[in-house]
Amino acid sequence: MKSPLFSATALLLLVRSCLGATSFTYNRTSFLLDGSPHQIIGGQMDPQRIPYQLWSDRLYKARAMGLNTIFSYVFWDQIQPTADSWDMSGRNNITEYFRLAQEAGLNIVLRAGPYVCGEHEWGGFPAWLSEVDGMVVRSYNAPFLAASKAYIDHLASDLAPMMVTNGGPVIMVQIENEYGSYGSDHEYMGALRDMFKAAFGVTLYTNDGGYDVDLYGGAISGVLAETDGSPQSAFAARDTYVNDSSSLGPQLDGEYYTTWLDFWASNYTFETYDGFASSIATVQSDLSWVLNNGSSFSLYMFHGGTNFGFQNGADWGNYLEAVITSYDYGAPLDESGRPNEIYFAIRDTISSYLKNVSSNATIPAVPEIPTPIEIPAFNLSPQVALFDILPSGVFAQLPVNMEALNQSHGYTLYRHTVTSALNGTLQPGDYPRDRVLVYVNSKRVGVIDSTYWTPNTVTLSLKANDTLDLLIENMGRINYGHRIPDQKKGVVGNVTVGGSTLYGWSMYPLSMETIPTASSAANFTPSATSGPVVYKGTFDVQTVGDTFLELPGWTRGVVWVNGENLGRFWVVGPQQSFYLPGCYLKTTGNEIVVLELEPGSNATAVQGVSTRTWANNPDPDLL
Ligand SMILES: *[C@@H]1O[C@H](CO)[C@@H](O)[C@H](O)[C@H]1NC(C)=O
Ligand SMILES: *[C@@H]1O[C@H](CO)[C@@H](O)[C@H](O)[C@H]1NC(C)=O
Ligand SMILES: *[C@@H]1O[C@H](CO)[C@@H](O)[C@H](O)[C@H]1NC(C)=O
Ligand SMILES: *[C@@H]1O[C@H](CO)[C@@H](O)[C@H](O)[C@H]1NC(C)=O
Ligand SMILES: *[C@@H]1O[C@H](CO)[C@@H](O)[C@H](O)[C@H]1NC(C)=O
Ligand SMILES: *[C@@H]1O[C@H](CO)[C@@H](O)[C@H](O)[C@H]1NC(C)=O
Ligand SMILES: *[C@@H]1O[C@H](CO)[C@@H](O)[C@H](O)[C@H]1NC(C)=O
Ligand SMILES: *[C@@H]1O[C@H](CO)[C@@H](O)[C@H](O)[C@H]1NC(C)=O
Ligand SMILES: *[C@@H]1O[C@H](CO)[C@@H](O)[C@H](O)[C@H]1NC(C)=O
Ligand SMILES: *[C@@H]1O[C@H](CO)[C@@H](O)[C@H](O)[C@H]1NC(C)=O
Ligand SMILES: *[C@@H]1O[C@H](CO)[C@@H](O)[C@H](O)[C@H]1NC(C)=O
Ligand SMILES: *[C@@H]1O[C@H](CO)[C@@H](O)[C@H](O)[C@H]1NC(C)=O
Repeated sequence: MKSPLFSATALLLLVRSCLGATSFTYNRTSFLLDGSPHQIIGGQMDPQRIPYQLWSDRLYKARAMGLNTIFSYVFWDQIQPTADSWDMSGRNNITEYFRLAQEAGLNIVLRAGPYVCGEHEWGGFPAWLSEVDGMVVRSYNAPFLAASKAYIDHLASDLAPMMVTNGGPVIMVQIENEYGSYGSDHEYMGALRDMFKAAFGVTLYTNDGGYDVDLYGGAISGVLAETDGSPQSAFAARDTYVNDSSSLGPQLDGEYYTTWLDFWASNYTFETYDGFASSIATVQSDLSWVLNNGSSFSLYMFHGGTNFGFQNGADWGNYLEAVITSYDYGAPLDESGRPNEIYFAIRDTISSYLKNVSSNATIPAVPEIPTPIEIPAFNLSPQVALFDILPSGVFAQLPVNMEALNQSHGYTLYRHTVTSALNGTLQPGDYPRDRVLVYVNSKRVGVIDSTYWTPNTVTLSLKANDTLDLLIENMGRINYGHRIPDQKKGVVGNVTVGGSTLYGWSMYPLSMETIPTASSAANFTPSATSGPVVYKGTFDVQTVGDTFLELPGWTRGVVWVNGENLGRFWVVGPQQSFYLPGCYLKTTGNEIVVLELEPGSNATAVQGVSTRTWANNPDPDLL
């Protein structure tokens, strides 16, 4: 056991955090908060993945685990949904989240991007970037730097009162994200450094994997270079491979992985350390090592939250690994804000460390949390077929990608009337982007899905006047890996059948930004040729509280409750229930809408359960 490094007075800062501090700097060995040595005991928690009504609750629980700092990504696409509009309300009210963090006694490390990865849609890039002429993301490229500057300047001016230099909680800002695992364009990183310096005026740092290539590519002269992953090897790598003294300083493990994320159709069930005593012991010994080394860490994640709406990203591994709706991550505070085994274990380690360095250090008590409620199964009624409420479309001889229709998320319907008989294999553009439901004369005849290494092929036999419909879903733009530059969705290239190009397309953007609804109250009974169907229902609860919403017998789609898009479901799993926070419920007259893309006779009831289960099922489209 190494002896404690810091004096009790310095540790008061560590324990109490920086209310009122106005400077955060560093020398070669220490972070310095108002000139006194400071260790960052941090954890990642992104405001845009948490209902804003719950921000205070989650922040308080971070303090109650012993953290003094929250690391937060900001997702650019949510804040600038179109090139000429900004939205800083609701979950995008980052200033308010930071203000609440300070109120809870927490500092903030801002991870502003412009690229953040974060298992978020396109790593945070707005989809409209795809349509800007000459755009090359993550590079020294004039259109990209101009778009990035507009975003960074907007964010920085909004957050100015939150900077430590103005008495706010933001002590440090990260530039880009693990850039060295993607590229090595130092001109690009240098341009971001200058942009961030001018915009934020606080200490900056980069965060890269603890390997030579990552550090050579990602570190920038004049900016503190930090690492992530296993702290012992990452810290050593930083000091081996970064030899520009202007990038050296105290060590921070910017992402110590508490567990891991989950993908749809992954064959793995839910990632968690609950019940894995030796994994938990390893986390405790790593964190204890970092603390006793006088260094800093951030847990990735402390609390993951939810990919509400269509926020999830995807990885690429020769097939699309789309991130599930839940971003629970097996993190210490679960998706519903409940502490699990690893929360208490980490709390013990931090608490023990703080006691060792300051005999009367305490951390707040963990609050009691009510058990989730149950909602008995109730039936929904079919309201309308999605294809009967199409918005006005765009007609063109050749299909265009989703973004060219001014659409970022959801589904696009491509409709073609066959001019002369045609047989052969359907090719929906250069490759399926991402999941293509194929209909001939309203009957579903196949699914081509990039989730699979070898997507199904669909062979068609078309006659003149047949209607060919391709309903194409954006399952989440890639956030990690070398496919990042091209993240257009829908059809890119031409649609061919048996090698013949099809001309004449009506295209209907179905972004689902407004909840699909029937225009009349007429009764509707789905048939085999209805296509996707919108179902509705209402329900009451005795006591408002969190629940996990299950949809047994349903296949794939989206769920809204009281106007909130809770995200995608898919029977294949591993996710089999939605986190439905109590703050979205009222006692009577709750409204639920389900878009079922592949309606079957069993899609009737939903229910709320108090304990969620995770499971993998075979894909009914492959049976
Ligand atoms: C950094 O600052 C701390 C606190 O003032 C001091 O103890 C330490 O020696 C300094 N380290 C260096 C390398 O100057
Ligand atoms: C952010 O939240 C604060 C506090 O509720 C509110 O006053 C402010 O108007 C919000 N900002 C936006 C842009 O909605
Ligand atoms: C650091 O040293 C290595 C090995 O000598 C060298 O290859 C590399 O270019 C140096 N990097 C910098 C940033 O000076
Ligand atoms: C899941 O398992 C099935 C059956 O073993 C296999 O065909 C498929 O490739 C696996 N998927 C992934 C993502 O590993
Ligand atoms: C922290 O660990 C490094 C090895 O990564 C070691 O060189 C250094 O002396 C340690 N510092 C303290 C204060 O234990
Ligand atoms: C605190 O000190 C005790 C006694 O020396 C030691 O066993 C324990 O590991 C220390 N805790 C941490 C987190 O370093
Ligand atoms: C314990 O707390 C008191 C009151 O806050 C403070 O004066 C004292 O220095 C603390 N002792 C230690 C060892 O931190
Ligand atoms: C997309 O928006 C741009 C700018 O508002 C407009 O000029 C263009 O016509 C729109 N395209 C479509 C297909 O709606
Ligand atoms: C397509 O296939 C069907 C049946 O397989 C056949 O009757 C028809 O003649 C074919 N049409 C063309 C254009 O090849
Ligand atoms: C296709 O529809 C047009 C217009 O309704 C009609 O004139 C034509 O005879 C139809 N062709 C076939 C092969 O059914
Ligand atoms: C699509 O078809 C058009 C018209 O035949 C052709 O000019 C174009 O090169 C094709 N695009 C691709 C990507 O093959
Ligand atoms: C409906 O559920 C029953 C019972 O689980 C199952 O046997 C049946 O195959 C399902 N039907 C469809 C169409 O999925």
